[in-house]
Amino acid sequence: MRRLLGILVLLKYCICGDVQDFDGDIKDFVVGNSKLFVLTDHRLHQMRHDLYEEKRKDITEHNRVNILVPFDANSTLITCGTLKDGYCEVLDINDITNSIYYESNILIGPRQDEKSVAFIAGTSSSRYLLVGKKDDDAKYQDTSYSVVTLWNTLQSQAGGIFSIFSQGSIGSIQSTVRDVEFVDGFQRVSPSESYLFLNTKTDSERKVLVLWMNSSKEKKREIIKSLQAATIRCCSDKARPVLVACTVIPSVNGVIWAGVFSAQNQQDPENSALALYDISNVKGRVKGFCAIGETPCGSESDTELQPLSVVFKYSSMSAVAAVRSGSWIVLFIGTSDGQLIKLMLDEKFTPGCPTVLFKSDDERAVFPRMHFDPVDFKHIYIALRKQLRRVSVVLCAKYITLKDCRAALDPLCGWCVNTQRCSTQDECSDTSWVSIPKNSLQTQLFSFQMAENSSRKISLHLSLSLESTGNPAFSCTFTKESDILCDGSDPPAVFPNCSCSLPDQLQYTGGLRVSATVNIEDQKITETLTLTNCSSITDSLSASHTQCVQCVSSGCHWSSSSKRCEWTHGPGEQLHIQDACKNLLSEMVYNKPAILSLEPNKVSFHGRNNVLLRGRNLESVTKIRIQGDLDCIPKESPVFDRSSDTLRFHIPPSGTKGTVKVCVVTPDDRCHGNSIITYSSQPSCTGIQPTVSWSRSDHFRPLSDQLPHTCICFSIIVGTSY
Ligand SMILES: *[C@@H]1O[C@H](CO)[C@@H](O)[C@H](O)[C@H]1NC(C)=O
Ligand SMILES: *[C@@H]1O[C@H](CO)[C@@H](O)[C@H](O)[C@H]1NC(C)=O
Ligand SMILES: *[C@@H]1O[C@H](CO)[C@@H](O)[C@H](O)[C@H]1NC(C)=O
Ligand SMILES: *[C@@H]1O[C@H](CO)[C@@H](O)[C@H](O)[C@H]1NC(C)=O
Ligand SMILES: *[C@@H]1O[C@H](CO)[C@@H](O)[C@H](O)[C@H]1NC(C)=O
Repeated sequence: MRRLLGILVLLKYCICGDVQDFDGDIKDFVVGNSKLFVLTDHRLHQMRHDLYEEKRKDITEHNRVNILVPFDANSTLITCGTLKDGYCEVLDINDITNSIYYESNILIGPRQDEKSVAFIAGTSSSRYLLVGKKDDDAKYQDTSYSVVTLWNTLQSQAGGIFSIFSQGSIGSIQSTVRDVEFVDGFQRVSPSESYLFLNTKTDSERKVLVLWMNSSKEKKREIIKSLQAATIRCCSDKARPVLVACTVIPSVNGVIWAGVFSAQNQQDPENSALALYDISNVKGRVKGFCAIGETPCGSESDTELQPLSVVFKYSSMSAVAAVRSGSWIVLFIGTSDGQLIKLMLDEKFTPGCPTVLFKSDDERAVFPRMHFDPVDFKHIYIALRKQLRRVSVVLCAKYITLKDCRAALDPLCGWCVNTQRCSTQDECSDTSWVSIPKNSLQTQLFSFQMAENSSRKISLHLSLSLESTGNPAFSCTFTKESDILCDGSDPPAVFPNCSCSLPDQLQYTGGLRVSATVNIEDQKITETLTLTNCSSITDSLSASHTQCVQCVSSGCHWSSSSKRCEWTHGPGEQLHIQDACKNLLSEMVYNKPAILSLEPNKVSFHGRNNVLLRGRNLESVTKIRIQGDLDCIPKESPVFDRSSDTLRFHIPPSGTKGTVKVCVVTPDDRCHGNSIITYSSQPSCTGIQPTVSWSRSDHFRPLSDQLPHTCICFSIIVGTSY
C-alpha cells in the first residue's frame, strides 16, 4: 500500500514534467515565494516550482495586466491593469484567487503594449513600488513628464496604498526625452540601491542609460533626489546602441552587470554582443532626466561606462541570466532563434566554451526575462511564446569518469570521490569533491616540469590541474616501455602533484616518451609525456619565439636574459607559454596580413574546396583559422597556391547552418582579419535524374567544387540508400 502511494505521489510529480504549454502567449512571468506566476493574455497562473499548476485566475476582457510584482515581505502579489481607467489589485501570494485589496481608477503600468519595469524598492521600514515606463498620457506640448514613479505599497503608509504622494511630496523622475524604453531594473538589498536600464532615442542618436537611486532613504523625495545617471556604451568594434536584455551578476565586491546590446542589423552575425560592466559607482547626470521640479532637467556630464569585457557575440541574443560559483560566473544566454546557451567566465572574465543546453525546433525567440528555480537553482525557466520550460543547468551526471568530468570545464560539476560520480558539490556529502581550479581555462589537466637540483640531479615534476575540498588518495607511476622510470628517491606524492627523480644515464635524444599514470582514489588517468633535454633546445634556425614556445611546452625554463632554454630549479617556476614568450612576439618581423575578400563567401554545409582569399601581405600566413559562433575549438585549414595577394584553402563541412569567422594565422599564432563565410542549407531535391549513374562510393566527392548543386542532392541519395 505504501509503495502504491509512493507511485501515486511520483505520478503527481511526473505529470507536470518540464514543459508547460499555455493557451496564449506568455506576456511576463515572475518568481516569488518559491512559486512561479505566469501571465498570458487570458489568465494569470500560479505554478509550483516544478510547473504544476496550483491556481489560475481569468483576466477580464478589455483588460491588459501590465504590472506583476511579487511582494514577498507582504506575502502578496501586486497586479495592475488597464481595465476602464486602470486598476490595481493585491493578491494572496499563496492563492491568487484570494483578492486582498482592489482599487480602481488608477493607471500605474503602461496603457499601450510597451515595455516597462516594476519592482519593490526601499528598506524594511518604507517599501515602494518603483515603476519605470514611457508616459503615454503626456500631452505632446508637455516639456517634461514622469518616467519613474514611486507608489506606496501599504495602507499604513502616509497617503495610503497606491498613493503617489507621501509626506507631502511626489516621488517621480521626469524626462524631456520623448522616446524611452525601460528594459530592466532591480534593487540591490544591502546597501539598498535601485538600478534602472533603458533605451533612449532622439533625432540625433540612440543611447543606453543607467539610472541609480539611493533607496536606503526613507522619503520618496529623498530617493528621487539621489538620482545619478550614466550612458552605457557597447562596444569598441562597432556601436550597438540598443539594450535587449540584462542581468546583475551576484558578486561579493562591487556590482557586476551583464547586458545584451544590439546593433539592430539582423544580417550581421555579430549583431548582438554580451558585455560586462562594473556599475557599482554610477556618478553624474545625463541631459533630459531629473528629479521632479528641477530646471533645467539634468545636465550633460561625461559619465560613460565602458565594458570590463565583451564575452560573447552572436547574431541575435534575446535574454541573459547569471549565477556565480566561487570565482566563476556561469551565464545563460537565450537567443532569438530559440536556443539556450551556457557560457562560463573565469575571474578575469575570460569565456570558456559555449554549450547549447536547449534548442527549440521552431526558432521561437527566448523571452528576455529568465528565472532560476527558487528552490534548488539547478534549473532555469525560459518562456518561448506559449510555452514555459524548466531546463536543467547542470548536467554533471553525463560524465562518467573523473577525466571527462574535468574536461567538461563546468565549475558547477566536480568528481565526488565518495559516490564515484560527477556531481554538484551539494550532492557530494563526502569532503572530497575534486573540481576545476581557477585557471583551468589556461591549463591542461597534465603539466610537467624538468628540474635540475644543485647536485645536478634531474627530476620530473607532474602537476594536475585539479583542486579538492579534501585530501583524496593520490599516487603516480611513470614508465618507459613498461619499465619503472624513477630511481625511487622521490618524496611521496601530495595531491595534485608528484615527482620522479630520473636515472643519471637517461638519454633524451629526439624526445623521450614516457607514460604517466595517475590514480585518484579509484580513478586512473594515463597520459604520454615527451621528455627533452632542456639545454639542447637550441635550434638556431628558428626564431626565438618558436624556441621559447618549444622550451616552455617541454617543461623547461626560458631565460629571457640569455635567450636560452634551461632546466627549471623546482616546481612552480613554469609560466604559461603566453606569459613566458609574449615579449618575444614583438621581435617577429612580418608585414601584417589583411583579408580583402573571400570567393565564394556562401557555401553549403558540406564545405567547399578551393576558396579564393584575396588580401595583402599573405606571404607570412601559415594557415587559416575558421571559427563558428558556438565552436569552442576553431577549425584550421592549410593554405596553398599562395602569393602575396591571393591564396587558396578548403573550408571544411559544418554540422549546422550559420556563419563562421575566417582569419589568417601568422607564425606567432596571431590571427588577422575577421571575414565571414555563411553556411546555408543545401538546395532541396525536387527530382533525381535517372541518367545519373553511381555504383562506387569513392566516386562521391561532395567537396569538389566542379560538381553542380544537383550532385549534393545526389550525394544524399547515395548516403541513405546504403
Ligand atoms: C500587506 O499589505 C496589505 C495592504 O496594505 C496590508 O493590509 C497587510 O497588513 C500587509 N501584510 C503584511 C504582512 O505586511
Ligand atoms: C544612501 O543613503 C543613506 C541614508 O541617508 C546614507 O547613509 C548612504 O551613505 C547613502 N549611500 C550613498 C551611496 O550615497
Ligand atoms: C638532488 O635530488 C636527489 C634526488 O631527489 C637527492 O638525493 C639530492 O639530495 C638532491 N640534492 C640536493 C642538493 O638537494
Ligand atoms: C643535455 O644536452 C647537453 C647539450 O647538448 C649535454 O651537454 C648534456 O649532457 C645533456 N644532458 C643530459 C642529462 O642528457
Ligand atoms: C603543486 O604544484 C604547483 C606548481 O607546479 C604548485 O603551485 C602547487 O602549490 C603544488 N601543490 C601542492 C599541494 O604542493
